[in-house]
Parts: sequence; structure tokens; C-alpha cells
Amino acid sequence: ALPLTCRVERTFTAIKPDAVNRGLIGEIITRFERKGYKLVGLKLVRPTQPLAETHYAELASKPFYPSLVQFLCSGPVVAMCWEGKDVVRTARKMLGATNPLESDPSTIRGAYAIDVGRNVVHSSDAVSTAEREIALWFRPEELVEWAPTSLQWIY
Ligand code: TYD
Ligand code: MG
Repeated sequence: ALPLTCRVERTFTAIKPDAVNRGLIGEIITRFERKGYKLVGLKLVRPTQPLAETHYAELASKPFYPSLVQFLCSGPVVAMCWEGKDVVRTARKMLGATNPLESDPSTIRGAYAIDVGRNVVHSSDAVSTAEREIALWFRPEELVEWAPTSLQWIY
């Protein structure tokens, strides 16, 4: 069982169409599994334009917004919900900086991406953002409660 002091969170993480096309799904899921996070939602989605626009709504005024939306709709995306202690902030660290030029090579973007417009993965930037994004991409019944016995060795 998780100690009561653990701040258990959920985050929304997505493997973008570039990474799906490049065969990186397994690599990315493996990193989250090995870190100790629990997968509670997983599906392959071809995002509609409205879904992509809503997902990135905060960036609507940016010059790269149209190409960003088009990119997200350009192929299948692996939508995931990961759960665990401090998962929102830790997932962002595991992704690395937005621009792969700045991301440490030990991170997912640093290891697998070159261009900011094709940076392989998304993960929510705050707990409140995660709540919004999980609700946008998943129906409640698509999120699965389960208790892997390995958690007692992680926490
Ligand atoms: P943002 O939310 O700033 O980054 P992050 O994905 O790290 O939360 O931007 C969303 C995506 O928009 C980003 O992953 C890649 C794309 N993007 C560009 O194409 N050009 C840019 O200059 C920026 C800042 C982002
Ligand atoms: Mg962001």
C-alpha cells in the first residue's frame, strides 16, 4: 500500500504521431513502467481537429498553433493516463525540455527528438492541466483502478 504521505497524482501523457510512426511506443511506455508509474488508461486515437484544437487551446494565439494542431491530427496518438507519486512533475522531467536542442540526452525528447515541432511526447504541465486533459481524452470508464503488487517495492 502507498504511504499516506505520498501525493498520488494522475497525468495525461501522449505519444505523438511522429513517435508512433517511428516505432517508439514501446520505448516510451517502458520508461514510465520502469520509473515505477502505474498505467491506468491507454488507447490509440486518431485525434480529430476539434480535439487537437481543444487540447492545445492555451496556445491558440501562437504562430505555430495551426501547424501544431495539424501535426497532432496527422496520425495515431497513444493517449495514456499514468498514476503515482508526483507523476505530473516527474513526467515533465522524464520528457525533457520542449525544444530537443535544450533537453538532456537522458530524457525522452533528448534521446529521440531533434526538432521542436516533432518532439515525440506530450505530458500535462500541472495537476489542474492534467485533470482537464484526462477528462478531454478519456471517458471515466476508460480509466482502470488496479493494484500491482510491485508497488510495495517502489514506495
Ligand atoms: P508547449 O506547451 O509550450 O510545450 P510542452 O509540449 O513542453 O508542454 O508547446 C506545445 C507544443 O507546441 C510543443 O510540444 C511543441 C510545439 N511548439 C512548437 O512547435 N514551437 C514552439 O516554439 C513551441 C514553444 C512549441
Ligand atoms: Mg504544454
